[in-house]
Amino acid sequence: MRQHVNPLSNVFNYVEPLPPLEEIFDNHTMPLHLDVGCGAGDFLINLANHNKNWNYMGVEIREKLVNKSKLKLKNKSIDNLFFAFGNAEYLIEDCIGKFPVNALSSVSFNFPDPWFKKKHHKRRIIQPQLIQKISRLMANGGFISIKTDVEELFEYMDMTIIDSKFFIPYRYQDSEILNSYNPINLKTNRENYVSEKKLKVFEILYKKI
Ligand SMILES: C[S@@+](CC[C@H](N)C(=O)[O-])C[C@H]1O[C@@H](n2cnc3c(N)ncnc32)[C@H](O)[C@@H]1O
Repeated sequence: MRQHVNPLSNVFNYVEPLPPLEEIFDNHTMPLHLDVGCGAGDFLINLANHNKNWNYMGVEIREKLVNKSKLKLKNKSIDNLFFAFGNAEYLIEDCIGKFPVNALSSVSFNFPDPWFKKKHHKRRIIQPQLIQKISRLMANGGFISIKTDVEELFEYMDMTIIDSKFFIPYRYQDSEILNSYNPINLKTNRENYVSEKKLKVFEILYKKI
């Protein structure tokens, strides 16, 4: 199994500033979904290709994966998807004040690195300050979704999001899923692997209040 990248390492303190939203997307007025730790990019490429009514942004701390994702986009006419390299926390911070208020419609955390040891929990991507930063970019009614196959990580993420007081657990009502960022319920690479192994997936959706 590959070693996780330590997001607290000094090499990730700097992120290349993001361009303004109107320079990133052809139609920057469409709802924007952010996938945190987007891995090799396939999930977002398939989603963006299928769902032309949304813009998608993937952030990933492994530069090689971001470069591969960008390569996969070449020669495809997908203008509603953007990949950014860096620590998600600093990239999200960079959006504050640059992107319009309420720019984010939804955010997903799919199978984040678990960092099992207690002394490494601070390397986990979901932290109180990250949830606070996301909430500054999101209107009430926006969504966060989390998925993992690690129960203990699920409980940790759930507690952090609930404790923020910005979000409550939620279930899509009626046709809401059809208008969501993932109307076809597409799975990520990790989720496909987990399904093949018949492992349990812990998942929950939150709504900003
Ligand atoms: C287990 S993989 C899951 C990839 C993908 N979401 C999936 O479900 O197939 C977790 C990903 O999160 C990325 N990651 C971890 N910490 C991160 C951070 N602070 N900022 C951005 N990406 C991060 C890792 O490099 C890795 O690609």
